[in-house]
Amino acid sequence: MARLEGKVALITGAAVGMGAEHARLFVEEGARVILSDVNEEAGTALAEELGENALFLRHDVSDPDSWSTVIAEGTKKFGPITVLVNNAGLSGPNALTAELDDREYLRMVEVDQNGVFYGMRAILPGMIDAGGGSIVNISSAAGMAHLPGTPNVGYTGAKFAVRGMTKATAIEYGPKNIRVNSVHPGAILTPMAENLNDKSVLDAVAETIPMRRFARPREVSHLVLFLASDESSYITGSEMVIDGGRLAE
Ligand SMILES: NC(=O)c1ccc[n+]([C@@H]2O[C@H](COP(=O)([O-])OP(=O)(O)OC[C@H]3O[C@@H](n4cnc5c(N)ncnc54)[C@H](O)[C@@H]3O)[C@@H](O)[C@H]2O)c1
Repeated sequence: MARLEGKVALITGAAVGMGAEHARLFVEEGARVILSDVNEEAGTALAEELGENALFLRHDVSDPDSWSTVIAEGTKKFGPITVLVNNAGLSGPNALTAELDDREYLRMVEVDQNGVFYGMRAILPGMIDAGGGSIVNISSAAGMAHLPGTPNVGYTGAKFAVRGMTKATAIEYGPKNIRVNSVHPGAILTPMAENLNDKSVLDAVAETIPMRRFARPREVSHLVLFLASDESSYITGSEMVIDGGRLAE
């Protein structure tokens, strides 16, 4: 049997990068998937490619009101949502703390931190009614430590916050059979990493990783799939690092 048979998942930031790869793998494993993103063109094209078990909805995760619309439309199409992957994120500029302006800083708080809170708050009542669910919050290795190559203090702060909110919500909703875990990717080859750095910077970062390479998005998707599935039925409040050994040093 497919590993997500019968499950309905909402994946944010699913138009490109890791979110897109999670959506592909989830559909391959039998889930019906709502892909949400601000990038309508890429999101619509991917949902079409994935077929009848995928639905794309335009969605800005930093807008609290839009969450109820996305959840209502997704539920109408596929039934109760029992998996939420809070993946949407942006990294902001490479900047030292004294150089980071208010607008850039606040945008990361709004999307990377508040977006995760709005998502959990909106999805929980339906998950309780459905008898349980799994929330996977995508933080970062930068949510564990401020590593060289991390763009700025706003990103690191938001990703630490995601780790903390994950634990609080896991403890509060464990009795309702809702699991909440955070995932902490290291260096993953997606548009986010490519937009932030040129090839020489990417090569230099790879040299600092014990496995001497960036990960492919699908390597992270396999971890997210495990956390979404019933195979991880006793795992909650955990932080899963997937970084080629970088944080071990
Ligand atoms: N790439 C890495 O090395 C890396 C490492 C650690 C953590 N992460 C995290 O993993 C997640 C995915 O990263 P990625 O590398 O695939 O990024 P990406 O930039 O390749 O894709 C991110 C997606 O999120 C969407 N998005 C941005 N703002 C949004 C908003 N307000 N509402 C809805 N969608 C929005 C974008 O349109 C895009 O489709 C992010 O949370 C990121 O912080 C990435």
